[in-house]
Amino acid sequence: MSVLITGIGELTTNSEVTGDALVIDGSEIAWVGNADKAPAADEQVDVEGRAVLPGWVDSHTHLVFAGDRTAEFGARMAGKPYTAGGIAVTVNATRAATDEELAAVLRRHIAEALKQGTTFIETKTGYGLNVADEVRSARIAAEQADEVTFLGAHLVPPGEDADTYVDLVRGEMLDAVAPLVRWADVFCEKGAFDYDQSKAVLQAAAAKGLGLRVHGNQLGEGPGVRLAVELGAASVDHCTYLSSADVDALASSDTVATLLPACDLSTRQSLPPARALLDAGATVALASNCNPGSSYTSSMAFCVTTAVLQMRMSVEEAVWAATAGGAQALRRTDVGVIRPGARADLHVLDAPSITHLAYRPGVPLTHSVWRRGERAN
Ligand code: NIG
Repeated sequence: MSVLITGIGELTTNSEVTGDALVIDGSEIAWVGNADKAPAADEQVDVEGRAVLPGWVDSHTHLVFAGDRTAEFGARMAGKPYTAGGIAVTVNATRAATDEELAAVLRRHIAEALKQGTTFIETKTGYGLNVADEVRSARIAAEQADEVTFLGAHLVPPGEDADTYVDLVRGEMLDAVAPLVRWADVFCEKGAFDYDQSKAVLQAAAAKGLGLRVHGNQLGEGPGVRLAVELGAASVDHCTYLSSADVDALASSDTVATLLPACDLSTRQSLPPARALLDAGATVALASNCNPGSSYTSSMAFCVTTAVLQMRMSVEEAVWAATAGGAQALRRTDVGVIRPGARADLHVLDAPSITHLAYRPGVPLTHSVWRRGERAN
């Protein structure tokens, strides 16, 4: 089944191809160009001057969870600071949930994101924190998400010894989870895992063939960025508090700086130094960090709008970061881009240009979405 899409008012491809029309064939983009040269297709859809861009690539979420942390959020808005300790509340609820309940929560959030233009989503384990619950989190995630990350090193479970827990994560837990995931991640932060503990987990994961990611520099300056760059991690996520040495290290590395502005707003922190990173030459991605504790939104548009209005990114930089940037953070070349051979993941805005994502903040602008060549809404 092929579909010719015409009447594109503005086409953002993140690639060398341009035009006002494109053809989807099966699950892939088959052709991009000007409508007068378009090949025949089974069906034609006229988007009547709307902007078309790649679907959002949300490279950082925590969606295998149960329970509710509304009260914690409310307390924070009344002045209580965010700490890593809140993760334990979700761990208790997640352990108590059935497989079906966890799968349903994940399904609901992926569907919610898709309606808003997110066509590719990464999610993590990290609310199990014992072998059985991390394995089932990974299994449930792998059934629905595009990419899955092992985050056994999210928090030392309350009451457990940190070094004993690190040995479990890099030993038996990693052995059991590794066949189900592509990535391993560590929360390298005060209150979670220090540099040596984080490095031990990541090196064990790399030895198993997993790609590396780091949660770092979220609650203050620390060793997360340095460790990510040292180990050649694909991405270091948060980057809220960076020294100039961190910015320089990212700029001279292949490690993507994934910024999570909805999290910084929801935890009442500063927004990350996107301009300094971009001006230094670092690669920046934007992601939602959708999770019940620090960032309970699936809206990539909100992240883009915030990045433009409050982090001094241009609209083009922010849209790139939320599409091709996310793809680069996941080392994918088939998504976040529109060109022949790429996955047919398209986001049609009810607006003539991507500028409207910031010009009309808060207005739901998703008109229609294709995922793997199938019309999703
Ligand atoms: O990315 N930083 C660590 N993990 C999550 C928070 C999860 C939670 O508070 O439940 C984050 O913000």
